[in-house]
Amino acid sequence: MSETQAIDWEGRYREGTTGWERHGLNPAFLGWRDAGVLTPCRILVPGAGRSLEPVALAEAGFDVTVVDGAPSAVAIQRAHFARLKLSARAEREDLFAWAPDAPFDAIYDQTCLCALPPGLWPSYVRRLHQWLRPNGTLFILFMQSDRPSGPPFHCDMRAMRNLFGPPGWAWPDTLPETVTHPSGLAEQPAVLRRI
Ligand SMILES: C[S@@+](CC[C@H](N)C(=O)[O-])C[C@H]1O[C@@H](n2cnc3c(N)ncnc32)[C@H](O)[C@@H]1O
Repeated sequence: MSETQAIDWEGRYREGTTGWERHGLNPAFLGWRDAGVLTPCRILVPGAGRSLEPVALAEAGFDVTVVDGAPSAVAIQRAHFARLKLSARAEREDLFAWAPDAPFDAIYDQTCLCALPPGLWPSYVRRLHQWLRPNGTLFILFMQSDRPSGPPFHCDMRAMRNLFGPPGWAWPDTLPETVTHPSGLAEQPAVLRRI
């Protein structure tokens, strides 16, 4: 089994051991959308799972692409889009083998980075950079678990600033407050600009 497929996400969906799921929209997502920071554009949601944000984005007029490796999660995203007659796409692919036809204006990463073994993070961040157009925006939730193992893997903020460091990424002067995840953990929202 390849390192990128080492965690059996499909098995977790089938068993119902999906403690990462919110069953509602992330408060950080709502804040960005309602403040007009997240405005209709061509957007990618990597590792979207069964989350509700892709449908909310498509309903709000975004051109949405979802990529996830778990077949049942992709099927659910496709079913949501079809039921609501939304023209969004859901692709079943390994993020480490997939490439888009054209770069995106924005990416929404909610518990995708923290779901990946940290050894994959540099490669994943290079891909995020390639998937975005210059000046594109990464909306990301950095999971704060303070645990040595995962998933979710702890996203230490000093390590994140190095991982998403110059010259590829620009950070805002300040970050908003963390939001609470249903698991009891905190997520640090951040909006990074792809240089
Ligand atoms: C912790 S879940 C988060 C799902 C969703 N973002 C949410 O907030 O509910 C991580 C997701 O990333 C997907 N994933 C993990 N590694 C992947 C890979 N290499 N390629 C594609 N999808 C992957 C899994 O299938 C799973 O749906």
